[in-house]
Amino acid sequence: MQIGVLGGTGPAGSGLAARLASVGFDVVVGSRSRYRAMEVRDRLLEQHPGRELSIEAGDNHAASSADVVFIATPWDAAASTASECADALSGKVVVSMANALARVGHEFQPLVPPRGSVAASVQAAVPRSLVAATLHHVPAKELGDIAHPVESDVLVCSDHPSATATTIDIVSKIPDLRAVDAGELSNAAPIEAFAAVLLQVNVKYRTRVAIRFTGLPH
Ligand SMILES: NC(=O)c1ccc[n+]([C@@H]2O[C@H](COP(=O)([O-])OP(=O)(O)OC[C@H]3O[C@@H](n4cnc5c(N)ncnc54)[C@H](OP(=O)(O)O)[C@@H]3O)[C@@H](O)[C@H]2O)c1
Repeated sequence: MQIGVLGGTGPAGSGLAARLASVGFDVVVGSRSRYRAMEVRDRLLEQHPGRELSIEAGDNHAASSADVVFIATPWDAAASTASECADALSGKVVVSMANALARVGHEFQPLVPPRGSVAASVQAAVPRSLVAATLHHVPAKELGDIAHPVESDVLVCSDHPSATATTIDIVSKIPDLRAVDAGELSNAAPIEAFAAVLLQVNVKYRTRVAIRFTGLPH
């Protein structure tokens, strides 16, 4: 399966690209500039010699031609970026990992995007796509450090059961990530907002935390 990453040149998107390629996906790093995407692709390949990662580079339109497309732009660019690629994204699973947050001094504050969440804004922007949301709480640095496992529970939500299933399948290919079906896209709002809590905990304890649920069946 080929996976495109819009905004794949940032820490989250490039980390995701490396991690997905490390477990066998063909990845296309997307960017507003295909040259920036090529630089990031080259850097990822140089960082992991001998890993034979399947990573291509292109603009966001090129990345949108993949089978499944993640959006890893800042929150306020996610819906417009998806909208610009709407035709290529039509009928596809589109996965938002964006959190609407503001840092005010030492405080992380969740923001309320139009329609309540970034993912809902994206779904409204590309109504012919099947939008899911996931990976909001996995730190980019750990995601991209493919020499080490990244351990976390990962919430997945969508209004489309097939998008939930596809997203869970992708996340579950990454060892030590456990995908958890968190219901419909309306839950993207608290999931995204909770990222502010985790970042605040990170600042307080000078660490990078991940979430684990107890009580789930094995
Ligand atoms: N960082 C984390 O640990 C983490 C963890 C989980 C989720 N997330 C979420 O993942 C998303 C990406 O995080 P990040 O830290 O990688 O973000 P970032 O570095 O600020 O942005 C990622 C990429 O988005 C593109 N971009 C920037 N402004 C844009 C605009 N106005 N329109 C279209 N594209 C734009 C840029 O790529 P080009 O200039 O190459 O187009 C940039 O490299 C965020 O929404 C964040 O909440 C982050």
